[in-house]
Amino acid sequence: MKSVASAPGKIILFGEHFVVYGIKAILCSIDKRITATSQFLDEKIVRVSSSLGESEMDLNSLNNLEKIPQKFMKPFFYVAQKAIEENSSEHGIEIILESQIPAGVGLGSSSAACVAVTASVNGLFNKLSKEEVVKRAIQAERTIFEQNSGADSSVSTFGGLMSYDLKNGFQDIPSRNNLNFIISNSAQIHDTQDIVRQVRNFKEKNEDMFRKLCKQEIEIVKNATTALKDNNLNELGSLMLKNQDLLKQIGISTEKIDLLVREAKKTAYGAKITGAGGGGCIISLVDNSNMGDTLDNLRKISDCFLAKIDYNGLTYR
Ligand code: PMV
Repeated sequence: MKSVASAPGKIILFGEHFVVYGIKAILCSIDKRITATSQFLDEKIVRVSSSLGESEMDLNSLNNLEKIPQKFMKPFFYVAQKAIEENSSEHGIEIILESQIPAGVGLGSSSAACVAVTASVNGLFNKLSKEEVVKRAIQAERTIFEQNSGADSSVSTFGGLMSYDLKNGFQDIPSRNNLNFIISNSAQIHDTQDIVRQVRNFKEKNEDMFRKLCKQEIEIVKNATTALKDNNLNELGSLMLKNQDLLKQIGISTEKIDLLVREAKKTAYGAKITGAGGGGCIISLVDNSNMGDTLDNLRKISDCFLAKIDYNGLTYR
């Protein structure tokens, strides 16, 4: 018996970094997924394989997750260990991951993998509800990223557009917008925690300026919420460029990102960093009228692909 589940990656449309200081961010899941396939093994081992590598542990050592050589695999063994323990199982488990989401560039691949693996492994025993999956997936991801807010896992599990802020948590944005984005990868690897630290230093040295930028970001997010309701692409694009300008002022853009944004805005409605910045990806908002031209231009200088908002979230097959 095979248990198959898949979960989408995500982009942040507005509010990254400022969200750390209490401001609302808007994010959505995208139609690029990670699929996890699990099955029981006769051997008493858990084996995880993905395009990034393969790792295995025997059932007796699952309580010592520190021994895993590939750190990014720790959440998957955690999920397997919990499921085996809770179901008093004596079987081994094989987990195979297949991904359409580039790793390490702010597109939520790690959370999507945790969600898909949680649903797939537990599906071998009893299917979990989405609420149960997201809870367990966040615990799993915290084995490698303790301060993880859970935003990525939530949007990956439930799908669609959401807002998030520290006080109110997640709120579904009841919209069925069919937005089209081009995601361009700067190929500059970033470390989210380092960049968040860098922004904190900037804030501490420039308190007044940072306060002003926060006010501007609040305004951008407010106007974006209206523009999303109205499906106003011109307005959304211009707000993305304003948001990009704020991200540049807090020091997280790079020359490559600036170049990508400059190129994108020649034809797209707007473009900005998505996620931590300091490299990673930019998103450009397009529709059928400017998609081809924007793709042609961006392809000359980066790896890029089209993405739409995903409204399904976690699915079982
Ligand atoms: O690069 P990502 O997708 O991990 O996004 C980081 C978003 C930040 O706002 C920079 C940090 C955070 O925890 O919200």
